[in-house]
Amino acid sequence: MALRTVDVELGTRRYPIHIGPGLLDDAARLAALAPGRHVLIVTDANVAPHWLARVEAAFAGKQRATHVLPPGEQEKTLERFGDLMGALARLGASRDATLVALGGGVVGDLTGFAAACWMRGVRFVQLPTTLLAMVDSSVGGKTAVDLPEGKNLVGAFHQPAAVLADTATLATLPDRELRAGLAEVLKYGALGDAAFFERVHALAPALLARDPGALAEVIATSCAHKAGIVARDETETGERMLLNLGHTFGHAIEAVQGFGGLVHGEAVAVGMGLAARLSAELGLAPAADADRLITALRALDLPTEVPAGLDPDALLARMRLDKKNLSGTLRLVLWRGIGAAFVATGIDESAVRRVLAG
Ligand SMILES: NC(=O)c1ccc[n+]([C@@H]2O[C@H](COP(=O)([O-])OP(=O)(O)OC[C@H]3O[C@@H](n4cnc5c(N)ncnc54)[C@H](O)[C@@H]3O)[C@@H](O)[C@H]2O)c1
Repeated sequence: MALRTVDVELGTRRYPIHIGPGLLDDAARLAALAPGRHVLIVTDANVAPHWLARVEAAFAGKQRATHVLPPGEQEKTLERFGDLMGALARLGASRDATLVALGGGVVGDLTGFAAACWMRGVRFVQLPTTLLAMVDSSVGGKTAVDLPEGKNLVGAFHQPAAVLADTATLATLPDRELRAGLAEVLKYGALGDAAFFERVHALAPALLARDPGALAEVIATSCAHKAGIVARDETETGERMLLNLGHTFGHAIEAVQGFGGLVHGEAVAVGMGLAARLSAELGLAPAADADRLITALRALDLPTEVPAGLDPDALLARMRLDKKNLSGTLRLVLWRGIGAAFVATGIDESAVRRVLAG
């Protein structure tokens, strides 16, 4: 299958996202990603057994070290960040070092933040191995760790030098994580591209069956959307906020469930459905579009209802804490219909509560 490339253009800087099967087997391409002497490869214990050996082999000529994290969001911490600083120090990493993030969004966010901070900023490359990381977290330069008080509270904007999305790595990804990534794929259509929305819906059976051609197509289109949005609004002062469609609802669900219930992409799926229903409730969009979104999410085998037993008032209380809110009023991404999301402020909380209560 042909390799696809999407360029991210940020003023005078630019970097490529390469997408296709077998990229991690291309040792020469990988080696070229690290022009300096030192390489620190960061991955997690789920990814390492399947994919680490070929990456280590590609950087065999370098002074390198590998850091394998335990998997999971609970590892995206300042403590693990400190471990990476220690690993870089022991390696003697100089300013021309390259950090290589091999894994999902947790590895990517943590490694990117370490790269942003080591010697005030060194090169890093993303080798995403989850669908979510390929279409979202590896692109755009947001890096962060979590605090007990909240997700992604400490971080930096630091763009990778390149992203290599080897679609073959998705073969070992659990089904649930694949579906979570598909929620983010559908999101690009829902927020700004009605034709892509229909395309993803039509491809649902092929995507769930991990058809390589279907996956490569939707990954490339998603990356092109993300690259365009990031190019126009790198630091999220406007359009980039639209990428949060469904996220304020979704984060509230994740938080009220104590981050042990729905995974992020599933919560975003429910959240997108709620945003669409709220838009209809407020008379901003046709109810039929909300129905079409719910149908497409179900075709992707994603949840569309608030999990049973969650208190609407507890969810609303969490939504009030969202970073996007302005001067005490709710700010949410809503839509005027499929492909037409916008940022809405001063939203009537009683309507939000009605939607949360189903
Ligand atoms: N920086 C951004 O712009 C941005 C955007 C969206 C999300 N994020 C962050 O991304 C994180 C979520 O990313 P994620 O969904 O990739 O989660 P993740 O990194 O936790 O990966 C999900 C699970 O899949 C496993 N895994 C990864 N690749 C695998 C493979 N090929 N085979 C087998 N198992 C594999 C991981 O070990 C983990 O258990 C969150 O921390 C979120 O805040 C960041």
